[in-house]
Amino acid sequence: MFDSGFGGLTVARALIDLLPNEHLVYFGDTGRYPYGSKPQGDVAKYALEIADFLVAESDIKMLVVACNTAAAAAFEELSERLNIPVVGVIEPGVRSLAEVTATGRVGVIGTVGTIDSGAYQHTLATIPNTEHVELTALACPGFVEFVERGETSGRQVEVLAKRLLAPMVDAAVDALLLGCTHYPFLARTIGNVMGSDVVLVSSADETAFEITRQLDELSLHRGTGGGAEHRFISSGDIAWFADLGRRLLGPELARAEAHEWV
Ligand code: DGL
Repeated sequence: MFDSGFGGLTVARALIDLLPNEHLVYFGDTGRYPYGSKPQGDVAKYALEIADFLVAESDIKMLVVACNTAAAAAFEELSERLNIPVVGVIEPGVRSLAEVTATGRVGVIGTVGTIDSGAYQHTLATIPNTEHVELTALACPGFVEFVERGETSGRQVEVLAKRLLAPMVDAAVDALLLGCTHYPFLARTIGNVMGSDVVLVSSADETAFEITRQLDELSLHRGTGGGAEHRFISSGDIAWFADLGRRLLGPELARAEAHEWV
């Protein structure tokens, strides 16, 4: 599994809870993040490099693109290039949005890169029987930085959320997809702004369900042997990754390994 940095840890958490027997290697590209403000071509190149690294280094049986920006930029290319199943964070979230809406008015929030790519609209168009679903997509620059500082609640993030989410409140959606791996950490603040009638859909949980479904379908589960290994690799400052990562993920992130891009 990989992400630009810490956000994918929400997917890792959901996966470890749902599938405690599976080994997990998580790569956080903190040496090159954030991805959300970078050109799509650069993000796609990074994604392919990380995929090649994980395949070569750890002989993985499935790749999870736990970053919405990377999935928007490179999911198709990764699926074509690798001969193992690839799961992204976009499609599971969109499917769930279409299922939970009663009014047909739904929203997605993400980084500038993800929203500008149009990936959510394209994916929705490929899902059958969703013609009635009207999707409002909104970029929320600034949210990621708050999470990276470990500031997931408080007055400042509330003020920013009120300002950024105002167009989404006006769009009167009844379901909102957190289309960035960092946003589940801000779910309470986002929920307060949107109101209790709006269902928040987390791509992290939906992706963990999709991983389980595909492992079932392909008979790829590891079984109940116990002793699952959880490894965390980062291309940036290891002490920082381990410290903030442990606060965000939990005790499984006991230590982080370094990887340097050459
Ligand atoms: N992980 C990215 C995403 O899900 C957000 C952080 C970044 O901009 O790199 O879109």
